[in-house]
Amino acid sequence: MEKTLIILKPDALQRRLLGKIISRFEEKGFQIAGLKMIQISDSLARKHYAAHEGKDFYEPLIKFITAAPVIVMVLKGKNVIEIARKMMGATFGSEAEPGSIRGDYAVSNRFNLIHGSDTPASAEKEIGIFFKKEELFEYNPTDLQWIYDMSTGDIV
Ligand code: RTP
Ligand code: MG
Repeated sequence: MEKTLIILKPDALQRRLLGKIISRFEEKGFQIAGLKMIQISDSLARKHYAAHEGKDFYEPLIKFITAAPVIVMVLKGKNVIEIARKMMGATFGSEAEPGSIRGDYAVSNRFNLIHGSDTPASAEKEIGIFFKKEELFEYNPTDLQWIYDMSTGDIV
């Protein structure tokens, strides 16, 4: 089982789309391992988006992600990093496929509602930036045996 960091960005909160987006991940079968509302500070934003420092969209991106509160959450599931990125759709709302979160709810190339970690290494790093150990929960979802076939010892 893998974990990923998801951020529901300020536009998702302002546009009252938080519930709809969280529901998609719940209904898909992913487990919420941690979830909280925070306002990202300038320094936290710069740390999170350090890979984009120097790019022309970096300063507007920092302004955007700090402009209103966000929901940060950790999702758990088999291949959740890749599957959540697919559910999010392409980076630009204008290009994201209908059926994806950005494809259904975003048109902007910056205000694109959601962040998801892109690799296991960045997931681990990002979860460490946003969550303390005691804010992450280990529990057994009662329906897990109907989310995956685990009868053979593998998770299928
Ligand atoms: P994210 O990191 O937020 O999950 O999004 P991503 O991987 O799909 O996209 P990335 O390339 O990491 O870009 C980070 C965020 O910067 C904004 N952006 N603006 N040309 C632009 O104006 C531009 N390009 C990117 C978006 O908010 C994007 O999610
Ligand atoms: Mg990214």
